[in-house]
Amino acid sequence: MNLNQEPIIIGSDHAAYPLKQIIKTWLIDNNFQVEDKGTDSIESVDYPDYGIKVASLISKGQFSRGILLCGTGLGMSMVANRFAHVRGALCNNLFSAKMSRQHNDANLLIMGGRVIGDILALEIIKTWLETPFEGGRHQQRLDKFDKFDKFDNLLD
Ligand code: RB5
Repeated sequence: MNLNQEPIIIGSDHAAYPLKQIIKTWLIDNNFQVEDKGTDSIESVDYPDYGIKVASLISKGQFSRGILLCGTGLGMSMVANRFAHVRGALCNNLFSAKMSRQHNDANLLIMGGRVIGDILALEIIKTWLETPFEGGRHQQRLDKFDKFDKFDNLLD
């Protein structure tokens, strides 16, 4: 495995807390610096609180990549992609994980702790971390995201 070792910010709600702990252990065992924004138990919490903590720091450029988890991954996706410069990809399979990097330069991987098993989640993370962005025509498409962030009030 040839992985870029930049720090990774992670967060989850209670539904995916057990998976977050497994992922955190795997990342640390593989020499990643991990910033864990919670939650810290299986006690019920509101997923937007944790999605906002993680996505806002990626949006501000303080972290270049992160992982967010909730029961399905859907709520975290909805929250995260409200932030400018966040390209959050809900990937509960390996093909999506690979394509989210190659074509979308995803900077936030989102998974559903109640959807996938632990081993698949770790395989998805490995694939996501080792797959480079292809650039070219895909960069041209991503540039339109930034244009939209600046000028969305001008759309007709
Ligand atoms: C929590 O019950 C659940 O709604 C949450 O983890 C997530 O799946 C929301 O999208």
